[in-house]
Amino acid sequence: MRELSAIKAQLELLLSHVEEGIHMVDRKGISIYYNKAVSKIEGLDPEEVIGKHVLEVFPSLTEQDSTLLCALKTGEAIYNREQTFTNYKGKKITTINTTIPIKVNGKIIGAMEISRDVTTVKDMTERISELQAILYGHTVKPGSRRHGTARYTFDDIIGESRCIKDLKNLARRAAASSSPILVWGDTGTGKELFVQAIHNESPRKLSPFIAQNCAALPATLLEGILFGTIKGGFTGAEDRAGLFELADGGTIFLDEINSMPTELQAKLLRVLQEGAVRRLGDTRMRNVNTRVITACSENPINALEKKQLREDLFYRINVVSLEIPPLRERREDIPCLVEHFIARYSSGRGERVKISDEVMDIFMKYPWPGNVRELEHAIEGAMIMMEGDTIKPSHLPIQIRSFFTHQKDRAIDPEDLNLNDALERLENELIRKALEKVQGNISMAARVLGIPRQTLQYKLKKKGMGSIYTRN
Ligand SMILES: Nc1ncnc2c1ncn2[C@@H]1O[C@H](COP(=O)(O)OP(=O)(O)OP(=O)(O)O)[C@@H](O)[C@H]1O
Ligand SMILES: [Mg+2]
Repeated sequence: MRELSAIKAQLELLLSHVEEGIHMVDRKGISIYYNKAVSKIEGLDPEEVIGKHVLEVFPSLTEQDSTLLCALKTGEAIYNREQTFTNYKGKKITTINTTIPIKVNGKIIGAMEISRDVTTVKDMTERISELQAILYGHTVKPGSRRHGTARYTFDDIIGESRCIKDLKNLARRAAASSSPILVWGDTGTGKELFVQAIHNESPRKLSPFIAQNCAALPATLLEGILFGTIKGGFTGAEDRAGLFELADGGTIFLDEINSMPTELQAKLLRVLQEGAVRRLGDTRMRNVNTRVITACSENPINALEKKQLREDLFYRINVVSLEIPPLRERREDIPCLVEHFIARYSSGRGERVKISDEVMDIFMKYPWPGNVRELEHAIEGAMIMMEGDTIKPSHLPIQIRSFFTHQKDRAIDPEDLNLNDALERLENELIRKALEKVQGNISMAARVLGIPRQTLQYKLKKKGMGSIYTRN
């Protein structure tokens, strides 16, 4: 007997710590257990619930719609049922419940309900769906590009390198078909640019182009958004078309596909195979003619190995594969990209902006971890900072300037035990850190280092760091 009560105490302790709400009733529907999580969801104290009948505590429910009472009556478990109710304090709550009858020797002695609060998820889905309906929901008149638009065309893709030319040719050919395309490459390499250009070159160009980042939303929301919902279904209070239906006749771009939860990837595969979607909570399939283009910022083979991408889906979406190499592997594109961005950001400027040879030299050596986007921002920023008509090293962002000072320090042999060299290395490191901390401002860096500004300026000049850090 002592053992049994110890087990009961342990079980209660365990249940009081789980995140799911747990509510148990006896065979008459009287509450016998009500944990902290459910108390938080429903806004009731356990004392207000335990010892009372379910319908007494939740007056808005009836024998038919209380899942606990249904499970008691039928002896059948009910899985993942949505329940919306007004709690005792007047607050509208939506939960997803699983309700299981408790049987001993085949006799029902009670029921247990496990619930998850999805009120916020539901509110968010409704809000997102409303916004999407505003954005994309109106039918397009031929020739109009009002909604879900793709702005870029192949003319906007700048690059002289063999690989960019080849990629543009391949993408142009792929645009004519409706086959799925997988575009992959590091961040900022121009994946979205290619995807939009493909849509705009394709016979679908007057139909919607809708992009959805799969990493931006939790799985429960994403599913309703992509495939739609029907009234009473889990996430939607309304009948709403998903993005697949809204993009019918056009293109849907699923960015960061490897972030899509794998169970949803399985549903996406079915949509691709059947050419039809089933809205959440619906039984009916609806035909859609939506072209699917996906993107991934890492090598899809790695994503497969890491089990971020389902193999069966990979073969289906990778009919055409476009790999965009990082900028450091196609440096011959840098000069024309620089020209392009200077032209883009110099509208309204009288004089023609040039870049110094030193800057071009830095650009040709820098590894560009942020790829074309980083180059674009470097030029945009420099054009705001500069005073004359030439972009100089001092106008470049801190990460580019400090990369080169770093390199200089690392060029010293670490095996060198000479004290003067070691002190010089330490001095360089401290100066570099101080400059980074104050975004390259020399007066402030001198203050941080506790030396006069002139001394710091002299040291920078002597160390050949003057051209990199020359801002006062
Ligand atoms: N070849 C190019 N010619 C002109 N502009 C480019 C080129 N490649 C990229 N860009 C510009 O760089 C920026 C980033 O491009 P985009 O958004 O297409 O990159 P992405 O690969 O989708 O990046 P992320 O993985 O971070 O989403 C955009 O402003 C785009 O216009
Ligand atoms: Mg992108």
